[in-house]
Amino acid sequence: MFRLMNEHTTKHHSWAEPYKIKMVELLRMTTREERLAAIREAGYNTFLTRSRDVYIDLLTDSGTSAMSDRQWAGMMMGDEAYSGSENFYHLESVVQEYYGYKYLVPTHQGRGAEHLMSQILIQEGDHVPGNMYFTTTRLHQELAGGKFVDVIVDEAHDPASEFPFKGNVDLAKLDALVQDVGADRVPYISLEGNVNMAGGQPFSMANLRELRAYCDKHDIPIMLDATRTIENAWFIREREEGYASKSVREILREICDMTDGCTMSAKKDLLVNIGGFFCCNDDEVFRKAQNLVVVYEGLHTYGGLAGRDMEAMAQGILEATTEEHMAARVGQVRYLGRKLEAAGIPIVKPIGSHAIFIDARQFLPHIDQDDYPAQALAAELFIEAGIRTMERGNVSAGRSPVTGENRHPKLELVRLTIPRRVYTQAHMDVVVEAVTDVYARRDEIRGLKMVYEPEYLRFFQARFEPL
Ligand code: F0G
Repeated sequence: MFRLMNEHTTKHHSWAEPYKIKMVELLRMTTREERLAAIREAGYNTFLTRSRDVYIDLLTDSGTSAMSDRQWAGMMMGDEAYSGSENFYHLESVVQEYYGYKYLVPTHQGRGAEHLMSQILIQEGDHVPGNMYFTTTRLHQELAGGKFVDVIVDEAHDPASEFPFKGNVDLAKLDALVQDVGADRVPYISLEGNVNMAGGQPFSMANLRELRAYCDKHDIPIMLDATRTIENAWFIREREEGYASKSVREILREICDMTDGCTMSAKKDLLVNIGGFFCCNDDEVFRKAQNLVVVYEGLHTYGGLAGRDMEAMAQGILEATTEEHMAARVGQVRYLGRKLEAAGIPIVKPIGSHAIFIDARQFLPHIDQDDYPAQALAAELFIEAGIRTMERGNVSAGRSPVTGENRHPKLELVRLTIPRRVYTQAHMDVVVEAVTDVYARRDEIRGLKMVYEPEYLRFFQARFEPL
């Protein structure tokens, strides 16, 4: 059971789960032959495999959390009225209290919020700086006529760097952009908590403070991608001077209070299977978002969600911001990471909060980046043990809209993403064994050729054949 208070810390204990299991979901075990047939049929793309063929699903931490008994109880309290649902007002008050923004517009998930925000704030030809791209975020910026500009610190692009705040914004890079295009062509800076594509790496409060001062000077809003910002708050508490005795909840508020609004995929930090929202403090932006949400998502008091989804999300916020939840969350990911490290597997450091990222360049140095080493490794882990992971490299990065060439990102990674409250330590041990076995036979692994490439977010649906 959760204790919904923050005075308790588990520092002196191990990271063991602050809950017990009440219901289980049975899994199907498969043979190697079955898995080989399944990955072939899926065009060597783990996104196209069927869940029934997966043993340990580390594809994503998005929408894959186990909800608590209290969240399920909340689901029964769904007020499914078309307008003015009680659950909306409950969620609004919890978001205002925990995140601190004035206005809330619910959306069906994160990209729904990104769509609204991009359409409202970006003009054709604008430049949108950000601490590394995220796939859907950048696409919505581009669809709105903007150009994404990466202003994250250099350390973020180096998998071996142990820099504790690889999510930091490089103010010199930001200033170079502002000097080049002018502050009036920079509608906002997109600031992501616990940067997903960099390996789940946090920004520091000191960096955010500097960024705030810079943005105040140039009149540039800071829009937070709050998707994994509770996890970012946890790292600030752990690593940044002056924060050891602050609660995750207090740190979260401090972050949000320095920003002007946020988009949220509630499917991560907030322990729900679906949902998201847009928040802001500006009256005019809010009016526009409230109007636009009706066009794309649903009425402004449900935004594409059922009342019960909003109730589960409100309860999820209370649970996700406890110290004991975060200790177990980060503790489990660290357990897996340390074991992989001990087995000599090249992973992104420091170990982040939501996933372990294997460095596929180092794992498979004999495969050229245009033969998609990370994609090949993800397919191999599926074949080995039914472990479903995700490519985060050349396929995910896509093509430059200018040259049409593959973007060739510095980071060529396979993401082992840990769903919240779902798998046990024994599952993590099996993952270590499987990765170690694949590593032992890495020289036999060949690259892949892309044989079908969709126009948008190609990593979801592209198909491959072995070379
Ligand atoms: N921002 C970040 C940082 C994300 O990680 C995601 C989704 C989104 C926005 C979009 O939210 O999926 O609710 O529309 N990330 C998932 C992942 C898909 O697997 O990393 P969404």
